Amino acid sequence: MSTNLNTDWGNIGFSYRKTNANYVSLWKNGVWDEGKLVKENTLTISMGSPAIHYGQQCFEGLKAYRRKNGSIGLFRADQNAKRMQESCRRILMPEVPVEKFIEAVKMVVKANEEFIPPYGSGATLYIRPFVIGVGDNVGIKPATEYIFCIFVTPVGPYFKGGMSPIKLVVSEYDRAAPYGTGAVKVGGNYAASLLPHKHVTHEGYTDCVYLDPKTHTKIEEVGAANFFGITKDNIFVTPISPSILPSITKNSLLYITDKVFGMKVEERDVYVNNLDEFAEAGACGTAAVISPIGSLTNGKDKYIFYSETEVGPVTKKLYDHLIGIQFGEVEAPEGWMIEFK
Ligand code: PLP
Ligand code: COI
Repeated sequence: MSTNLNTDWGNIGFSYRKTNANYVSLWKNGVWDEGKLVKENTLTISMGSPAIHYGQQCFEGLKAYRRKNGSIGLFRADQNAKRMQESCRRILMPEVPVEKFIEAVKMVVKANEEFIPPYGSGATLYIRPFVIGVGDNVGIKPATEYIFCIFVTPVGPYFKGGMSPIKLVVSEYDRAAPYGTGAVKVGGNYAASLLPHKHVTHEGYTDCVYLDPKTHTKIEEVGAANFFGITKDNIFVTPISPSILPSITKNSLLYITDKVFGMKVEERDVYVNNLDEFAEAGACGTAAVISPIGSLTNGKDKYIFYSETEVGPVTKKLYDHLIGIQFGEVEAPEGWMIEFK
């Protein structure tokens, strides 16, 4: 089926639009039910649900791509399924089996095929799976019932302007603690980032960069994306830390730079007072794709990477290769794409 919605796909931004169908599955008495598609995009849950009071919930984000050959592509969906299992384990929720996750994603994407932006528009169908702990409760304990849902919505670039340099600033807040939940995708991390995000966007920045919560000397990640830098001698560097979200995009870029481009790669500490080691830098993630970082302000210091207006050559090459794989223009490494009609 082709897209028949009358939409200006180039300018949809990153916002929600109601679609035809959503997926819902319930976990009760130790098992997930089969799951089904529903029309409504609302849930009725107990007021005592642990998801509401104690943040017992997690989510994922991935995309469906209308590919060059007309098929639909999912990028590394198994990795999202596995990361959601990690999140569930960390906050004592039942895991969704990988096969169930992938089948559910395919089902809801297929049911909303007309919302997949056309090939060449640059837009994609964002897929948001999540698990919440529900049921009557008041004490701090895991829920007795869970709901696994997926909704989808067509999106454009997360950062306004897409592939144009963003302006970041170091936050004085932390989004996660050293032995906390930073490495899993739970809502609490994002609740913690709302106020810092409000402050920095009010000051004219695109988003903030969080430092390591223990010493506040090393870059952890951007609000909703991982950080990478390209050193002046062409090494792909990305921070390593137990409190950042292991980005599937970042892991893919580590593979592409190493195995395809033959660059040296390093996962290591990135000191915020040593940014002049980098010729280019970027933020990477499913929503962010690759967004070049034009500048990073830290207190009175402002570091300009490649340029505040132009995209650096390595960042551009990485972006082209990554979206080439996703849209079916470049051969994907074994197992990265799930394709269906
Ligand atoms: N870091 C944070 C805090 C995020 O929310 C995201 C988005 O999922 C990422 C990094 C990027 O991860 P991924 O590439 O798996 O989308
Ligand atoms: C994603 O990239 O999928 C994210 O989850 C980022 C943000 C929209 C929360």
